[in-house]
Amino acid sequence: MRSLKTRHAVAILAAGKGSRMHSSLPKVLHPLAGEPMIFSILGTVLEHSPHTPIALVVGVGKELVESAVRNSPRFSHHDITFIEQKSQLGTGDAVKAVTDSKWGQEKLKKEKLPLLVLPGDQPLMSVSLMNAMTEGKLPSGLKLLTTELQDPTGYGRIVRRSGKVQKIVEEKDATASQRKIKEVGVTTYLFHPEFLLKNISKLKPKNAQKEYYITDLIELAFKSKKKVEAVCWNNGEDLSQVNTPWQLAEARKLLNQRILKKWAEKGVQFHDIDQTWIDRSVELAEGVEVFAGVELYGKTKIARDTRIESRVYLRDVVVASKAHIKVGTVAEQSQIDEGAQVGPYARLRPQSSVGKDSKIGNFVELKKTSIGERTSVSHLSYLGDAKVGNDCNIGCGFITCNFDGRVRNGQRKHPTLIEDHVFMGSDCQVIAPIHIKKNSYIASGSTINKNVEEGDLAIARTKQVNKQGYAKRLLAMTEKKEN
Ligand code: UD1
Ligand code: CA
Repeated sequence: MRSLKTRHAVAILAAGKGSRMHSSLPKVLHPLAGEPMIFSILGTVLEHSPHTPIALVVGVGKELVESAVRNSPRFSHHDITFIEQKSQLGTGDAVKAVTDSKWGQEKLKKEKLPLLVLPGDQPLMSVSLMNAMTEGKLPSGLKLLTTELQDPTGYGRIVRRSGKVQKIVEEKDATASQRKIKEVGVTTYLFHPEFLLKNISKLKPKNAQKEYYITDLIELAFKSKKKVEAVCWNNGEDLSQVNTPWQLAEARKLLNQRILKKWAEKGVQFHDIDQTWIDRSVELAEGVEVFAGVELYGKTKIARDTRIESRVYLRDVVVASKAHIKVGTVAEQSQIDEGAQVGPYARLRPQSSVGKDSKIGNFVELKKTSIGERTSVSHLSYLGDAKVGNDCNIGCGFITCNFDGRVRNGQRKHPTLIEDHVFMGSDCQVIAPIHIKKNSYIASGSTINKNVEEGDLAIARTKQVNKQGYAKRLLAMTEKKEN
């Protein structure tokens, strides 16, 4: 017996195909809160014990799973070993792939570490659940997690004899009376290394599915009088399994609520916790107010006292403090500085930025465009490949004509440069490449295709002709026709 606050090794089973998902993607790579599902349990394992050696058993889509984990900055520095299970002959065979491997021999035989086995398809397992598994004395056989379910369909049933766990019977092998048992196994075990190494080869595929069941080790322990300790965990949410698209949707909802709760505890205010979606990677600060239907994804980071109104969609957007993002705004890979106002219904396409105290109004689209400080683009405009300085007023209906249908110097799109203190009248177009220098003034309705020098007024529209009394004549002509 030994205290388990010391060390253990972890094996996560993730080789299965997940055929019930009806998807070409390996089950554990389906996205959950903005990252592959397997990241969720990996993250929890590392939060629980940051230096624990981890083996990930991979099979179906192993290259995809391996590269997803290896390429993630969250895990690339951790001790994660990928062990291939060549054909998916069952959970027992998956654990045998571990014990047979060089990693398994080293951790279990040489270092004598207990092995915590976890399923790859229960992404909501919590740190406290892992504590319950690893704290206390290690039994001579194994420790297993069980739970009681109102509807135990599909799970392995826990069969007890005089209170002691005797075996687990899978749904497909269970008798009618065993199927009524509500206590089930959840593929979470802590094995004594010696017991595991000695017995893993004794598993036989003698069951309805002709698979090697890890669950059969319980009966082996029971028969050989090795101690089996059951920990009953009745927080069902932690144990939600993802076998089907519906269960994935349910897990998404539960995880999202956890994420929202975490931020609410740090001072973020949500108007509607059922219609707000936030990826795990998003960062929010105290005093952020989030209205209904907001979606915040990827590397989005929102600073203090910012208001995000209804149905705003932000992906990889950095928002500084006291900004105000109004209804229906969509932004990606952009930056919004302190005190800026964006929307309603604005669109910031990648590589755009809005400077301090500037204003981007309704139906304004920015693409690869930076807007300086205290500048206003209030209505119905498109700015692409543009740089606008400080204290400018860009009138309603402004358009940068950044594409002329040709490729010049390898560039399809051409830049617009508008310096500080420019007043752009309403309904102007500028034909890029173009440079409008500071303190200049562009008259409404102009189409500008020549650079404008500092302090100049540019006016580019046809002269107005007023014909005296002509309106009356026109009216008379139409009335005559109608009679
Ligand atoms: C398993 C358990 C069952 C338990 C249920 C929920 C067995 C025999 N059954 O059934 O008692 O109630 O989980 O926890 O263990 N895997 C592999 N290689 C394989 C087969 C599976 O790595 O050859 C992995 C899967 O990727 C998955 C996990 O093991 O992450 C569980 O496999 P799954 O097929 O979902 O088992 P269940 O039928 O749910
Ligand atoms: Ca499962």
